[in-house]
Amino acid sequence: MKKIKPMILNGPLRIAFFCFLMTGLAGLTPGLIAGDSGDSCVECHSDPGFFVTNKKLYRYYQDWLQSPHRLEDVSCSDCHMGDPSKKTKEAAHRVKNGKSTLTSELGFKDIPETCSGCHDEIYQSFTKSRHFKQLSPSKNSPQGPNCVTCHGSMNIMAVNVASIRNICETCHNPKTKNQPEIPKTAEYLLNKFLAIHRFYRFIGLKGGPAVNKEFLARVNLEHRELSSLWHTFNLADIERKTFELLDKVQSKRKSLSK
Ligand code: HEC
Ligand code: HEC
Ligand code: HEC
Ligand code: HEC
Ligand code: HEC
Repeated sequence: MKKIKPMILNGPLRIAFFCFLMTGLAGLTPGLIAGDSGDSCVECHSDPGFFVTNKKLYRYYQDWLQSPHRLEDVSCSDCHMGDPSKKTKEAAHRVKNGKSTLTSELGFKDIPETCSGCHDEIYQSFTKSRHFKQLSPSKNSPQGPNCVTCHGSMNIMAVNVASIRNICETCHNPKTKNQPEIPKTAEYLLNKFLAIHRFYRFIGLKGGPAVNKEFLARVNLEHRELSSLWHTFNLADIERKTFELLDKVQSKRKSLSK
């Protein structure tokens, strides 16, 4: 059998080939990639040419494109301000007070407030946390995390059992001597928290939503409150509430399988 030598595109040729491919794709799906969304931020930032001229810009756009926020129509200007009705870069980037400094609007300390527009309950809990107090590091204590430290910014993600330990360990580890036992406890508690969700689903399926409507609504509400409570990072409180709610759904489940 004849060996096929892989064709290696290099340098400018590869770039030219890529541009051809991307414009081809964009041409095939007008309205799907950029479209007449009436959102100039998305229209301009989705330009595949940025892959060549500004890789970072391209990557940030791709991250957003795959995020849960995009599915919910949370767009660039919801976090970065600017004016999405203006077509030119200069006009679109200009914020209300005449400045055009999009990212300084999103300084490390200001990020929680930006998110609070839509996640207010979580924000309110977060303001009670030691993490929030430490957004500006002090002489005796290092900097705490903001929303984006744990969830990402453009590629926003929920924290899960597979990721929580790594996230907490970036600051809570033996080297920093900042309560290194925290990541393990957090993983344990999050696991229990997610178990509530599994029981909840089981009850919904097994009991039929009509039968347990009130019960399910109550659990749903308490589950959301617990999600907010997580953002106080008061682990003792979180533990107490988690086991309260877990007991409740577990005994309901038992009563159903009788
Ligand atoms: C006509 C094209 C165009 C439009 C419209 C546009 N941008 Fe940009 N944007 C760019 C380019 C190009 C850059 C790269 C930096 C530069 O050239 O200023 C950029 C950079 C950015 C940055 C990086 C931070 C910075 O200050 O450099 C953010 C954030 C951003 N744009 C958000 C937005 C938002 C939000 C909107 C809509 C309100 C928007 N852009 C509309 C072309 C555009
Ligand atoms: C949920 C809020 C949110 C949305 C929606 C969002 N961004 Fe961002 N973006 C951020 C935050 C916070 C940062 C700063 C942290 C970082 O760099 O990851 C950022 C950083 C950036 C940067 C890098 C800026 C720099 O100077 O390093 C660019 C470019 C950017 N965003 C463009 C966009 C574009 C274009 C869109 C829409 C397609 C968008 N963002 C949507 C929150 C958001
Ligand atoms: C314009 C409204 C809006 C803004 C601003 C906003 N979000 Fe969201 N976000 C939503 C909606 C809607 C959802 C989906 C429903 C939900 O999970 O609450 C969501 C979901 C999420 C999720 C869950 C993702 C998942 O996989 O389940 C996280 C985490 C999140 N947002 C973090 C942030 C952070 C951090 C910021 C600030 C940088 C932010 N959001 C700003 C509206 C917003
Ligand atoms: C130290 C890490 C950390 C910080 C900082 C943080 N969170 Fe969270 N966040 C978590 C953890 C852990 C959960 C898990 C509980 C859960 O799934 O509801 C969570 C859950 C969430 C959810 C629910 C996700 C889902 O499953 O629907 C949203 C939305 C969210 N956070 C937004 C925010 C916002 C907004 C901020 C800033 C005001 C913030 N978080 C700050 C760790 C963090
Ligand atoms: C960016 C660094 C950073 C990350 C990431 C981080 N923390 Fe922290 N955390 C801190 C700092 C700083 C303090 C305050 C330490 C002090 O009091 O000197 C703190 C304190 C705490 C405390 C003690 C609160 C109190 O009231 O005394 C808990 C609990 C905690 N963090 C939980 C977590 C959990 C859980 C995670 C992961 C989901 C996490 N942290 C991720 C920096 C971080």
